[in-house]
Amino acid sequence: EVHNPHGKLRVISTKPMPGSRWIKLLVDAGCRVEICTEKKTILSVDDIKRLIGRKCDGVIGQLTEDWGDGLFSSLKAAGGHAYSNMAVGYNNVNVEAATRNGVAVGNTPGVLTETTAELAAALTLAAARRVVEADYFMRAGKYDGWLPTLFIGNLLKGQTVGIIGAGRIGSAYARMMVEGFKMNVVYYDLYQASRLEKFVTAYGKFLESQGEAPVTWKRVSTVEDVLKLADVVSLHPVLDKTTYHLINKDRLALMKKNAILVNASRGPIVDEVALVHHLQANPQFRAALDVFEDEPYMKPGLGELPNAVVVPHIASASKWTREGMATLAAENVLGKLKGYPVWHDGNY
Ligand code: DGY
Repeated sequence: EVHNPHGKLRVISTKPMPGSRWIKLLVDAGCRVEICTEKKTILSVDDIKRLIGRKCDGVIGQLTEDWGDGLFSSLKAAGGHAYSNMAVGYNNVNVEAATRNGVAVGNTPGVLTETTAELAAALTLAAARRVVEADYFMRAGKYDGWLPTLFIGNLLKGQTVGIIGAGRIGSAYARMMVEGFKMNVVYYDLYQASRLEKFVTAYGKFLESQGEAPVTWKRVSTVEDVLKLADVVSLHPVLDKTTYHLINKDRLALMKKNAILVNASRGPIVDEVALVHHLQANPQFRAALDVFEDEPYMKPGLGELPNAVVVPHIASASKWTREGMATLAAENVLGKLKGYPVWHDGNY
């Protein structure tokens, strides 16, 4: 699909993206916009090299693509120097290789914070109250009358939610769980404390002014402390070498027997085989996952477990957010090509 065929700068989007704002932005700035409408969900490096062709100024790509030296050198050879992921996470991008090839890299932070946190909250509730299991039960025609013992789950109020990675999304999720369900919080973050701490102080004052019982907040210095103390653990770190398999067999063993593990960050942060074993051995333990180690696949056994809730990487999938991500990605590319002062460079 081509927009503004006579535009001087050739910008490619490897996928159709929601909304038309991003297209207008590029077209108004004089770009020829080419959108790949190939049916295949995941494009290979060779597919994308073919798209880039001989002349390409900038590309908007997706988290399913492998943006390493191969693609960045092709982009450089085609005269391009701007790439934006339509995602906040950019573990699929080798920024060093991009820099070596003179290509600037952008991502799309901010617009997905609340949407992603809301999905993490939805997963938490689904797991705590066994919503998916109960839905299957109902649809299978198994409901033959109310029982005092039917689908007993966990009450969140007064329990402790553990946050690993208290950046934008982790902090928004923590705020939702505190304001919505009066959960206590324990959190671990290597880098940032300020976001949550500011909220903690303000919310503490608010509760005090309302004469309400306080919630407790605790920043701890190890991942292990979070795992031992929390009833719900939600993962929000970036994926890099230090967080790969952060949750492994030994760490799962530290968690409470009836705890809930939520992951709406990146699959490889959890050793999924170890998680499947843990769920099999501990039927009271639950996991709610938006992301998987080897997407689009799930490790064997996971899909059969009643104590797991699984959804296909949809945490940022609200209309407003996805249109916002597409617009930011276009702004990133345009910012670099035209020297505009908008540039989300992955440092957010
Ligand atoms: C991201 O942005 O990193 C998500 O995984 C997709 O929205």
